[in-house]
Amino acid sequence: MRRIILDTYEDVCRAAADVYTEQLKEKPNSVLGLATGSTPIGLYDELVRRYDAGALDFSKARSFNLDEYYPIKKDHPQSYNYFMRKHLFDKINISKYSLPNGEAADAEAECLRYDVEISDAGGIDLMLLGIGHNGHIGFNEPAVSYPMGTTHVELAKSSVDANSRFFGLDETQPTEALTMGIGEIMRCKKIILLITGEGKAEIAMKLFERKIHTDIPACFLKLHPDTTVFLDRAAARDIIVFEEALKRERIKAVQEWTGLRG
Ligand code: F6R
Repeated sequence: MRRIILDTYEDVCRAAADVYTEQLKEKPNSVLGLATGSTPIGLYDELVRRYDAGALDFSKARSFNLDEYYPIKKDHPQSYNYFMRKHLFDKINISKYSLPNGEAADAEAECLRYDVEISDAGGIDLMLLGIGHNGHIGFNEPAVSYPMGTTHVELAKSSVDANSRFFGLDETQPTEALTMGIGEIMRCKKIILLITGEGKAEIAMKLFERKIHTDIPACFLKLHPDTTVFLDRAAARDIIVFEEALKRERIKAVQEWTGLRG
């Protein structure tokens, strides 16, 4: 798992847009994996800017989103389908986009259908991920075991609380979702994970400990052959403090050792 720390949120969005630009240049008919939430909004704005400037063409590409609330109508302003149309799909020329269907009558059948659709498309070339404060990716919440394929899940209370900011007081917030499983995510050929803002500093620090915490779903990405994590300095705050302290300790140890030897 590679790590790139950049100064600001805007730098992270531009770097992530560079990865998408490169991907589409190399393979115009790429299968793109996309996420929702606050983090990728700046990336989507940047992709739209590049598309408007004629620097990006999505006409041969198609996409799959990580997850969708369940049950939810496609046109509900808080549905991920609505979010994606608003921030990206209605503004670019993507040939086809898919999300798990939050309107499906049978959630389990919809999960299987979604997996088949991804597999028929040849799998995902480049996947975009954000991370929850509890380490979730997609809606794979901390658990003892994790699903391979798309699954109907109950959201952790912390995730419901974190997303409540998007729902009005009079709106019912879904507490269930359909999400790609950890296995599905691990099958993506290339992954980028964006971690931004001070609120994510603690989970970013845990993710980069030299351990696989099985209760931090994002830790599975350490086993993926081509994952890059982009962080801004705010999210990397604890990592920077820790590594600077470590460096000072090492310098002190070397100085003591060479002093003793001298
Ligand atoms: C969104 C998703 C979630 C978010 C995560 C971070 O499709 O699957 O895992 O990436 O909850 O959300 P934000 O970016 O709002 O902090």
